Amino acid sequence: MDQLAMKKIAAQAALQYVKPDTIVGVGSGSTVNCFIEALGSIKDQIKGAVAASKASEELLKKQGIEVFTTNDVSQLDIYVDGADEINSQKMMIKGGGAALTREKIVAALAKKFICIVDTSKQVDVLGSTFALPIEVIPMARSQVARKLVALGGSPEYREGVITDNGNVILDIYNFEIMQPIEMEKELNNIAGVVTNGIFAQRCADIVIIGTPDGAKIIE
Ligand code: 5RP
Repeated sequence: MDQLAMKKIAAQAALQYVKPDTIVGVGSGSTVNCFIEALGSIKDQIKGAVAASKASEELLKKQGIEVFTTNDVSQLDIYVDGADEINSQKMMIKGGGAALTREKIVAALAKKFICIVDTSKQVDVLGSTFALPIEVIPMARSQVARKLVALGGSPEYREGVITDNGNVILDIYNFEIMQPIEMEKELNNIAGVVTNGIFAQRCADIVIIGTPDGAKIIE
């Protein structure tokens, strides 16, 4: 079974957590695109959605789903998003699509974070297969990169990418993360870093893995 088919299985299974008359938090990426399509099939049962990226916002609108801003809501029942890597403690690396900052903001509003992934995203150690994205204020790019080298990583500027917030992305290669909560805090303390792609302090509550045998749910 191909990766997209597994993403669709996970996305479809996430619908069971959507409560009627609620506003749903929606992340970003190709797995979330599958979820947005599935959400369209029950659009009359929900109030609308809050999107973590401009791309997701456009797709939600195309499905006829009303889009609210984060400032319109005080809390969300659920937030549904994908991940680039997820470990057995439901901690993640995110930001492959450069939407990490808005994803962290919308996730922080939600009572439950539901992570939808295919089997390729499961890892023992975060950072072992995917570079860690960091959103950086453009004027601080070089000095942040030097700090990241001092921490043992190999940062690379993601050429041609500007985030929805007008910032740039540094991807840290060769950076296995043994203590995700501590590293998330440490990276956020570097001047010029807006957000890093470690989602450990606020990890997922429910993981739905799309597999060739159906959706595997870890609660
Ligand atoms: C975007 C993200 C995505 O959730 C992550 O990159 C996974 O993407 P995909 O569902 O396309 O595999 O964090 O910033």
